[in-house]
Amino acid sequence: MASHQNEPPAFSDEEYHIRHSNGHDESRQIWWPFMQNLGWNRGWYDLPTYMDHSKSPGMLLIFPKGGQKPVGHIAATVNSNSTGWVSLFVVDEAYRGKGLGRALWEAMMENFHTCGTKIIGLDGVLEQKGNYERKGFVESTLGTVKIMSRPLVCNKGLPNNVQAGPKAEMVILDQVPHDLLAEHELRLTGVQRTELWTEENLFRRPDAQGWALVRRAPPQGVDDILAWTVIRRCSGGARIGPVYADNAVCARSVLAQAMNAADVDYIKALPLENEPMNTWSSERIRQKATMIAEVWTGNPNAVTVFEELGWSYGGADYHRMWLKGTAPKAQSEGGLAQRGMYAIFDAAIG
Ligand SMILES: CC(C)(COP(=O)(O)OP(=O)(O)OC[C@H]1O[C@@H](n2cnc3c(N)ncnc32)[C@H](O)[C@@H]1OP(=O)(O)O)[C@@H](O)C(=O)NCCC(=O)NCCS
Repeated sequence: MASHQNEPPAFSDEEYHIRHSNGHDESRQIWWPFMQNLGWNRGWYDLPTYMDHSKSPGMLLIFPKGGQKPVGHIAATVNSNSTGWVSLFVVDEAYRGKGLGRALWEAMMENFHTCGTKIIGLDGVLEQKGNYERKGFVESTLGTVKIMSRPLVCNKGLPNNVQAGPKAEMVILDQVPHDLLAEHELRLTGVQRTELWTEENLFRRPDAQGWALVRRAPPQGVDDILAWTVIRRCSGGARIGPVYADNAVCARSVLAQAMNAADVDYIKALPLENEPMNTWSSERIRQKATMIAEVWTGNPNAVTVFEELGWSYGGADYHRMWLKGTAPKAQSEGGLAQRGMYAIFDAAIG
């Protein structure tokens, strides 16, 4: 990542200044404690995943004048096809309500403007919905992003009705050309993230594993992909998403496959920085660790697929919003997301 040390600040007044982060090490010093304190159940490895595929200059940090430690951050995530996502909008609790959020917001919008981003979305918490509405964002009428969870599978076994049919084969994602994953996602969501689904980004992480249900292995084209999913480590245990699928049977099949992998051994093999769970016994992990997913209610089958495999509502939704109400076609009324998107990748980047 380029150094931004010498560039002029994106914003500056007598008390604060905003500049781009100089890299993941600097960003993580503030981002990871924020994630842990907010209980947002992210993973240590998520930050590079969020940032490295984006065409924007990276995370924006706000500093008190003379201070070395940032007190808030935000990022304009810019995808390959001029769509974008409002990401990682957090200000330290002690500094909230003083206009820092607004200053960060304006600097982020400037990044979008410079990058020529045409469609901008976000997944907002309920508390900030009014704030985003004042800034021109309109909630999708199709549905919310529902946080769902369940205990680890832990040898309990899964329902045996997860077969997708004789013509389908389950393969690890390494066997699927990664550009096909990006193409499949683009088709279903209208968002193109060619540089996210790559060996250099997501698949270099030690904790990322994925599976695809395909008509033939290796798949020759995007039409050969029936479903796919990914698991990652997060604070509470394991995160599953996205789940993209042709139909509910295929969705259930890849979800069950991922759930079987998210076991105690997986958690123990991949400790996260400064996490209490690192010292837990296997028994405690078995009892307390969870799987989490962000399930899209705009697909009428999505919640049922998860519920049938023992998942339940975690008690909160993200509100999917689009600037001026302009969503990609695939995520508009009648778009392919309504039947193909079961769980999103991550509310932080859509
Ligand atoms: C969201 C967040 C980053 C805002 O940061 P902040 O520094 O408090 O923001 P500001 O002081 O600039 O206020 C932001 C807006 O909320 C309004 N606001 C601030 N405090 C408020 C309060 N107590 N009641 C009502 N409105 C308030 C401001 O008027 C401002 O609106 P404007 O931009 O239209 O003028 C901060 O609240 C936060 O970190 N929350 C926890 C993390 C989170 O939920 N992030 C959003 C995820 S979607």
